[in-house]
Amino acid sequence: MGKDSFANGDSTKGANLFKTRCQQCHNLKAGEPNKVGPNLHGLFGRHSGQVEGFSYTDANKQKGVEWKEDTLFEYLENPKKYIPGTKMAFGGLKKAKDRNDLITFLREETK
Ligand code: HEC
Repeated sequence: MGKDSFANGDSTKGANLFKTRCQQCHNLKAGEPNKVGPNLHGLFGRHSGQVEGFSYTDANKQKGVEWKEDTLFEYLENPKKYIPGTKMAFGGLKKAKDRNDLITFLREETK
């Protein structure tokens, strides 16, 4: 596992990244409402653009990717490059370590 693929990270650091970089737009727990972005509960194993009641862009829906460690690792580095036309207003987490920490946290907290 090098810098170009997912490796297990520190979920405590990931929790802090979620709080500061994602939480204003995303909930994580079952039954919580969508915010500016879709609820991320059940994210792992789901295909892009599938949250009930959330109004996605066609770009996000048509990406058709399965969200898991390696696809999130690539997406979160530069969302607008991975899904051209997405309305997610987030520049990306450029450090592989930050993405590893955040994805490790998300894998636990979106179950
Ligand atoms: C300013 C608001 C905003 C921020 C900040 C934000 N997002 Fe999003 N996110 C969105 C929106 C809006 C969409 C839907 C995009 C579309 O339909 O084009 C989205 C989509 C997503 C998706 C795809 C979901 C699906 O069901 O296909 C994931 C995964 C995601 N965001 C994770 C994150 C993570 C992790 C962070 C923090 C690093 C983050 N987002 C930060 C608004 C945001």
